[in-house]
This record gives sequence, C-alpha cells and structure tokens, in this order.
Amino acid sequence: MDVFDAIRGRRSIRRYASRPVERELIEKVVDAGRWAPSSGNTQPVEVVAVTDPEKRRVMAEVSGYARYLKDAPVALVVCINLSRARSRYGELGVSYFAPLDAAVAIQNMMLAAHALGLGTCWDSVFDKGKVRELVSLPGDVEPFAIIALGYPSENPSPPPRRPLKEILHWEKYSS
Ligand SMILES: Cc1cc2nc3c(=O)[nH]c(=O)nc-3n(C[C@H](O)[C@H](O)[C@H](O)COP(=O)(O)O)c2cc1C
Repeated sequence: MDVFDAIRGRRSIRRYASRPVERELIEKVVDAGRWAPSSGNTQPVEVVAVTDPEKRRVMAEVSGYARYLKDAPVALVVCINLSRARSRYGELGVSYFAPLDAAVAIQNMMLAAHALGLGTCWDSVFDKGKVRELVSLPGDVEPFAIIALGYPSENPSPPPRRPLKEILHWEKYSS
C-alpha cells in the first residue's frame, strides 16, 4: 500500500472481529515500530504482545477510554526501557525524548497494521501499575501506551481534519 493511502486510510478501530491475528503479522507490525527513528538511535521502545483474553479483560477494566481492549484479539503494550532512554541524554532522555520515540514507533506500527488489513486504536490512559504487574515489567521498563490490534469489524468515516490552509503557515505564522 502506498504510504499516502496508508496515512489517509488508517482509522482508530474500536470494534474487532474475534478472528485471531497471525503471529507473523504481529511480528511485521512490531518490526515496523523497530524501524522508526529514535533520539540518538537509543531505541528505548519495547513491546509486550498480549493475546490472553483474561489479561485483555483486565486491561480494558483499568483503562479510562479503551473498553475495546477486551474484544481486540491483541493488545500491544508499548513500553519505554528507562535505562536505554537514560543512556545518552540522562533525565532529558527519559522525560522528553523517550515519549517521542515511543509515539513515532506507535505511528509506524499503526500504519503498518492498516497496510496489512488490521485495525488499531491507541490507549494512553490506564492504570500503569496494574498493567506493569499484569505483564511482569521489570523496574526499569515503563508502560507508555496500549495499542489494540485486530481485524476490524467496523469501517468508521474519517473524523474531520482542520483544513491544510489553516494549519500550514508559510514563512511566518498567520491567522
Ligand atoms: C495519544 C492518543 C491517545 C488516544 N487515546 C484514545 C483512547 O484512550 N481511546 C480511544 O478510543 N481513542 C484514543 N485515541 C484515538 C483518537 O480518538 C483518534 O485518533 C482521533 O479521534 C482521530 O481518529 P482517527 O484515528 O480514526 O483518524 C487516541 C489517539 C492518540 C493519538
């Protein structure tokens, strides 16, 4: 799929078919995240792929706005390895760069998933302590976001975007 089609066609999917996602496709999606740029190439992002229904049920329960996690066949827990994040830029790496690194990796994964016929939805409001425990994260690995992944069972219309001419300012900011 052309990258512009992937960018335009990707939607946040909140209804999923029960069909499991092939392991090979999950690997392809996470591999797309692995090729994202990262600050100083520190590569602080780690992903825990969760298919276990009970764990996904708990994740849905401890998430503010992601009830769909219990129905999506896969939940990708995107994490930040704090030691790697700290390795080059110290605390700035942890507080500033690593969340950006995780965000660009997530966008790569969401676009790759869409190109493979899969849907995704980003969840960033959840009980991090509970999720940490659920997937046995060590102390220096922080959960950052949970991305639902699965075959879509809805085809939502694109939520509107601001017009290009409103957000693109040539040479200087103009209102
Ligand atoms: C950082 C971030 C957090 C989000 N958190 C949630 C969430 O908790 N629950 C949800 O249903 N959608 C969540 N979304 C999806 C947005 O609502 C969605 O991207 C937006 O409405 C535009 O729709 P689209 O992704 O289909 O283009 C999140 C998106 C981003 C980028």
